[in-house]
Amino acid sequence: MKLGLGRDATLSYRRSMDVPPVLLTEDEIQGRVAELAREIDETYADAGGLVLIGVLKGSFIFLSDLARKLTIPHRIEFIAVSSYGAKESETADPVRLIMDVRHAIDDEHVLLVEDIVDTGHTLAYLKRLFGAHDPASVKTCTLLHKPDRTEQEVDLDFLGFTIPDVWVVGYGLDYAERYRTLPYIGELPPEMR
Ligand code: IMP
Repeated sequence: MKLGLGRDATLSYRRSMDVPPVLLTEDEIQGRVAELAREIDETYADAGGLVLIGVLKGSFIFLSDLARKLTIPHRIEFIAVSSYGAKESETADPVRLIMDVRHAIDDEHVLLVEDIVDTGHTLAYLKRLFGAHDPASVKTCTLLHKPDRTEQEVDLDFLGFTIPDVWVVGYGLDYAERYRTLPYIGELPPEMR
């Protein structure tokens, strides 16, 4: 029985897709994720457990690689946020929660896992929100940070890479829902948007 495209057809399809230039290779990402996992293992060695909270959708690949490299006991939750428009954000928080954790996090050690920190509004909001739930601790982990774009400072306890102010895609990150499953992180030039 034949299902879908054959190998040759798949390869030529991939070759014909737009391919953004590489900013971080697959090896660089995997090496850094392994280092972050070791740092997290050491930090929480005596904590008795950790809740990783991944921020959908962008963190899903990073979180799955990171979690599989941890040796400490941990469980995984996902949340989703959406941004308000500019007009609303003048009076309200620019971010709101649209999907919450399934299980309470009271008295637990919480690690918020983000794909990228841009202005800092999302992570600052989430740290305040989950800090109000009486966890044992709340720390942050982000694969990427664009310091040139900071509008709100937030402590980044575990940081993968600092990058310039460019739009990046791949390894979970998208542009209009495209490029999420590229194995590397690419810089998307304006002509590819
Ligand atoms: P912040 O609240 O401005 O820090 O925005 C964080 C969110 O913006 C991330 O979780 C991403 O969804 C999105 N974002 C910011 N910069 C990029 C980028 O270069 N590529 C893909 N998504 C981005």
